[in-house]
Amino acid sequence: MYITGIGKTKFGILRQGLPELCYEAMQKALKDANASIEDIEAIFVSNFLAGSAQSQLHINSLIASLLPGIDIPIIRIETACASSGAALHQAIISLSKYKNVMVLGAEKMSGVGMKEMTSCIAEAGDRMLDQKEGVIFPASYALIAQQHMLRYGTTVDDLALISLKAHKNANLNELAHFAYKTVTRDMINNSPIVSTPLRLFDCSPISDGAAALIISREKKDGRSIKILASALRTGTISLAQRKDITSFPAAKAAAEEAYAQAGMTPDKIDIAEVHDCFTIAELVAIEDLGFCALGESKGWIRQGKTSLTGQLPINTGGGLKANGHPIGATGASQVCEIVTQLRREAGARQVKKADIGLTHNVGGVGGTVAVHIFRRE
Ligand code: COA
Repeated sequence: MYITGIGKTKFGILRQGLPELCYEAMQKALKDANASIEDIEAIFVSNFLAGSAQSQLHINSLIASLLPGIDIPIIRIETACASSGAALHQAIISLSKYKNVMVLGAEKMSGVGMKEMTSCIAEAGDRMLDQKEGVIFPASYALIAQQHMLRYGTTVDDLALISLKAHKNANLNELAHFAYKTVTRDMINNSPIVSTPLRLFDCSPISDGAAALIISREKKDGRSIKILASALRTGTISLAQRKDITSFPAAKAAAEEAYAQAGMTPDKIDIAEVHDCFTIAELVAIEDLGFCALGESKGWIRQGKTSLTGQLPINTGGGLKANGHPIGATGASQVCEIVTQLRREAGARQVKKADIGLTHNVGGVGGTVAVHIFRRE
């Protein structure tokens, strides 16, 4: 199984609506694969917010309206922020029937008031345990950060280093939400507190955008990237239901399964795109993915091991923090970045050794986790 085409729109506060974003990403992926829509036998669409924020459900049929004369199965997958990771997992399974399918992730988040958007995002949390108690996502991840700091000695400076790295990488990625913005340590340290200890620059932004992938049973050409592993796991929806909130059991289980499928250990991974919806989430991901022991990720950040020139470059496109986080598009966008790196097409942000790449896409506070591993052939 291979990724034979990728397409991503600009991420950011955009004037286009959801249909335009979807159309652009699909066309880009088809062009990249040198394919036409007639080659595609099914589409797995990932979207989280259009129902609650835009009164637009039945997205699969909306996509069909963009593709006149096409009557293939189109299916919407929703698992909060892991929606396109889950869509990719389903697309891969579907290759037992189809030869070429598409994953399309899209989200339109701007244009809705901040208060309303925050409530819409909060729908990924438990209605009684989280939403009714006001435990919105910045608050949940702030609790995780507080516990990580207490238990392992992680500091706000460690979080700032993650943000700084993300913004530096995004400056080299013209499609990133914050491609244009030069961010300094002072800007990070002096930005407003959102939920202690998380500041504005610890949060992923509200972004619009779409990303599409063409998944094929057979290799097409030298730019095709092999899919070595696809693992999807589910965990409890609320932190209130967990004894330990510094690690996500579903992420550990998905990672273990993915490494087993790929027949490798974590030290074989050259580059990774991990789900840094808040800076603390990158530290938790590094530990859950087995790149280091629990509590040791702060050392990795301090030593620059995850920078573009480090031992394991992480979030080379800017991550959710600075590339942006249009929720339903994020998992597919992570794959676009890994494929671009493995093809050696990442330009100024190209890392030197990029043969095996991993993506880690999380829904909520670890309620859904998809881990995929890819190899350049
Ligand atoms: N990081 C850095 N800068 C950001 C930013 C972010 N996350 N979000 C907004 N900004 C910048 C804007 O570009 C703008 O800069 P400018 O004045 O130079 O143009 C400024 O901050 C104000 O933007 P605004 O849109 O008014 O921000 P806001 O206060 O309404 O929203 C957050 C900021 C952090 C509350 C919002 O981005 C947020 O809720 N993020 C989390 C989203 C989320 O929960 N996703 C799901 C994760 S599980």
